[in-house]
Amino acid sequence: MLRGFESQAITDLYAKHRPGYSQDIINIVMDYVKATNKLTKSGQEESKFELLVDVGCGSGQATNLFAPFFQRVKGVDISSNQILEAKMQNKLSHVYYVQGSAESIPVPDNVADLVLSATSAYWFDLPKFYLETQRVLKKNGCLAVLCPCLPRIEPSSLPLGNEVEMGKYATKLFEKHVFSGVYNEKVYSYPVRKYKDVFEAIPSDDKVYVGDVNNYYQSTLECIVGQLKSFDSTQNHLEQKLKECRTAGMEITSDLVNSIDLSEQFRQKVNAAWKIEDVADAEVLVNVETDMYILLAHNLHG
Ligand SMILES: C[S@@+](CC[C@H](N)C(=O)[O-])C[C@H]1O[C@@H](n2cnc3c(N)ncnc32)[C@H](O)[C@@H]1O
Repeated sequence: MLRGFESQAITDLYAKHRPGYSQDIINIVMDYVKATNKLTKSGQEESKFELLVDVGCGSGQATNLFAPFFQRVKGVDISSNQILEAKMQNKLSHVYYVQGSAESIPVPDNVADLVLSATSAYWFDLPKFYLETQRVLKKNGCLAVLCPCLPRIEPSSLPLGNEVEMGKYATKLFEKHVFSGVYNEKVYSYPVRKYKDVFEAIPSDDKVYVGDVNNYYQSTLECIVGQLKSFDSTQNHLEQKLKECRTAGMEITSDLVNSIDLSEQFRQKVNAAWKIEDVADAEVLVNVETDMYILLAHNLHG
């Protein structure tokens, strides 16, 4: 089964449409890092921490937001396409990107103040990732794992009003299309349990679970469709159906692709329900909320 992040097309979709993280989320993580540092160092807090390692960094969505707090930042991702995109977009001279895995983080022992995993830990071999985190963290270093749920969508304004009802419709439809695809059961079941098992598996007695943090952002229908398209569930579904069509000797036209693509079906249904067929998706403004779970820990043991 294809993992959504591996192709260049998906890297482009990630870079364009994956959401960022609110200031609240950044504050929760950095307050923990600062508090832990104070507790263990008992000295004056340094103005900037030394090293952030962002594992599963993608094209740098979270890396850039946390970078101002660190003297050096290393983004690590298993996908060469994601690393290429991250390097191309990088505007910060203290941020470096390197291909590598969560199970073998390409960083020496005892160097990181924070190991971050933003919307990526559900792909990792967690016991191996936690062992590696313990190895690369300084004595007083922290782990932060940011875990999202599916988005709630609400249009900003519609020709016929009733934004709340139409938002509920689109939110349900989004979820339905994600779960109509072909996906890894284990990965997609984490949000249902609010990432409690990802938290419980962290080998530390000094850990904090911050639940139901609201990540709010403004977006467009185009971005929401792009986000759905970037899910491995919808990509796997498309690949599988196209393979069946090729085997059956069918000609692969763009109409055929659109009729199979779950994100295109979502787009068409939302356009019809919201009565916005004559408006470009990029001009349809939506408010989006995602529940986030923030898992924080220090003093990891093997
Ligand atoms: C949904 S993206 C998240 C990207 C970014 N951190 C963000 O906040 O949007 C998940 C990322 O995890 C990476 N990934 C998946 N498995 C990995 C592994 N075992 N080691 C390192 N990175 C991995 C993927 O290549 C992908 O870029």
